[in-house]
Amino acid sequence: ETMKIVLPKKEIKHEEVDDGKKKVTILFGTQTGTAEGFAKALLEEAKVRYEKAVFKAIDLDDYAADDEEYEEKFKKESLAFFFLATYGDGEPTDNAARFYKWFTEGDDKGEWLKKLQYGVFGLGNRQYEHYNKIAVVVDDKLAEQGAKRLVPVGMGDDDQCMEDDFSAWKELVWPQLDQLLRDEDDMSVATPYTAAVLEYRIVYHDKPDSSAEDQHTNSHAIPDAQHPSRSNVAVKKELHTPESDRSCTHLEFDISNTGLSYETGDHVGVYCENLSEVVDEAEKLIGLPPHTYFSVHTDNEDGTPLGGASLPPPFPPCTLRKALASYADVLSSPKKSALLALAAHATDTTEADRLKFLASPAGKDEYAQWIVASQRSLLEVMEAFPSAKPPLGVFFASVAPRLQPRYYSISSSPKFAPNRIHVTCALVYEQTPSGRVHKGVCSTWMKNAVPLTESQDCSWAPIYVRTSNFRLPSDPKVPVIMIGPGTGLAPFRGFLQERLAQKEAGTELGSSILFFGCRNRKVDFIYEDELNNFVETGALSELITAFSRESATKEYVQHKMSQKASEIWNLLSEGAYLYVCGDAKGMAKDVHRTLHTIVQEQGSLDSSKAELYVKNLQMAGRYLRDVW
Ligand code: 2AM
Repeated sequence: ETMKIVLPKKEIKHEEVDDGKKKVTILFGTQTGTAEGFAKALLEEAKVRYEKAVFKAIDLDDYAADDEEYEEKFKKESLAFFFLATYGDGEPTDNAARFYKWFTEGDDKGEWLKKLQYGVFGLGNRQYEHYNKIAVVVDDKLAEQGAKRLVPVGMGDDDQCMEDDFSAWKELVWPQLDQLLRDEDDMSVATPYTAAVLEYRIVYHDKPDSSAEDQHTNSHAIPDAQHPSRSNVAVKKELHTPESDRSCTHLEFDISNTGLSYETGDHVGVYCENLSEVVDEAEKLIGLPPHTYFSVHTDNEDGTPLGGASLPPPFPPCTLRKALASYADVLSSPKKSALLALAAHATDTTEADRLKFLASPAGKDEYAQWIVASQRSLLEVMEAFPSAKPPLGVFFASVAPRLQPRYYSISSSPKFAPNRIHVTCALVYEQTPSGRVHKGVCSTWMKNAVPLTESQDCSWAPIYVRTSNFRLPSDPKVPVIMIGPGTGLAPFRGFLQERLAQKEAGTELGSSILFFGCRNRKVDFIYEDELNNFVETGALSELITAFSRESATKEYVQHKMSQKASEIWNLLSEGAYLYVCGDAKGMAKDVHRTLHTIVQEQGSLDSSKAELYVKNLQMAGRYLRDVW
């Protein structure tokens, strides 16, 4: 018998008493904070517009502890908004995953849906195949089961301008809420709303001890996104040969004594730092000395919360230099709200006006061109408006978003490397339309990392493990087909390490085939010796390579798949699992199409039957993708 552990229910703030006020719940599933930001922006604006209603914004994970509680909670809702991001291969964010599974799987969710009025705003990217899938699925399913859709599902497109999509969607929301929440007599007093510039309260301190800020404490037994664990870089290697004009880094984090553990196929989230040249420039633009030591606070001195509830989570006390290195994203393009915050602190009125224009509906095209299409970074924008020097509280709350962790498919297996997490990372280094050379924050950090093999004073980063569903079949006899060009090879290196360990332990393995592609055998055929060794030892039955720049015609992995069509079909018929890892926009789409064609031709099926076959593979968890 298992013991049931009863966890204390999380205390929900602002639980309102039933005073007859209408209640509106805004739920969000956020990964990097964007959905949360929009949810809270809606909350703030709605609070001002409808003083007679009670609004609450809450993380979907915190909303309910289990499936039963979801049902219980939703029974009490009559008006709800959902902010749902879609990422990767059409998946929900971590904190919406439980809700999504509960809501979309199994039976109808109950009568409560009939009295629910709702709106959904999605956050996605048009470049991806599963554009806003999570939002669309939830929106459809709510309507299907009888809930009343107040506004069409909002399709936020990160490829263009998500903020504009959100503004446009909000304009559809207000007339609906006017009808539902405004009394006849206050219909006339529509309160105009202008977004406030949010600001932390800053306290300056004497810097305690020079070493204090290098001490990242591993505070949690099981590290997570909020509590990553400091891990040393044990090994670093360049994987391309010197002829290459690009770079790909193999890095090993030492995870002994960190509390971290992982499974083959998981992802690692890495909190890296900005390059020191980037930090230098940011310091200059802010105009305060780098050793300025300060703390950020989201409350007033008396402990009451500051104005809006929308402030990003604060970071520990540190120097300005550390804050700019670790907590500020200064290389992404600034949002319109950041431009407004800069405008509010520009002493030159021409600059302030121009910033406001760029953030206004009239400046939409100019923003799209001068900021988005030019990939103009926040630093470049601040350089262009030198009079705009926001105070630290504004800079960290409203101008520079929090620097986000970068995720990598782990390229090792714990069966082979229990105390190490291996990462295989291609360097991002490209010229932007504005002429700037963009150096990817984390890939550059990794390329420059100092490993323990070179110095006791080695590089380290806070990291944590994000579980994935990219797993080998539980029965090792089931055949596997792997498709992973470029750094898409990463998780398959882990798979093969695992299979080699199984083989060495005497386990009988099913057959396996790996399609790998790169530009040139002599330049970027990463892990070539290891792959050959996997073949020699029998961990891999067949290695098939496609070199795209060795001859006049491009050879891609999907061309090789077509040549092996009957073999792939036979393996699938035997129950094989098929895995794809790598670029989502080009490669994974093309591979998907090729798979469809193979199934159609080899199985003598018509196109719709072939589609169903592939769908079924996906539903059965036998066609898995780890794409970005
Ligand atoms: P290319 O750069 O010569 O076009 C790893 O990046 C390999 O994937 C490279 O050989 C690259 O070729 C290739 N690649 C680029 N686009 C692809 C696509 N749509 N499908 C499959 N492979 C692709």
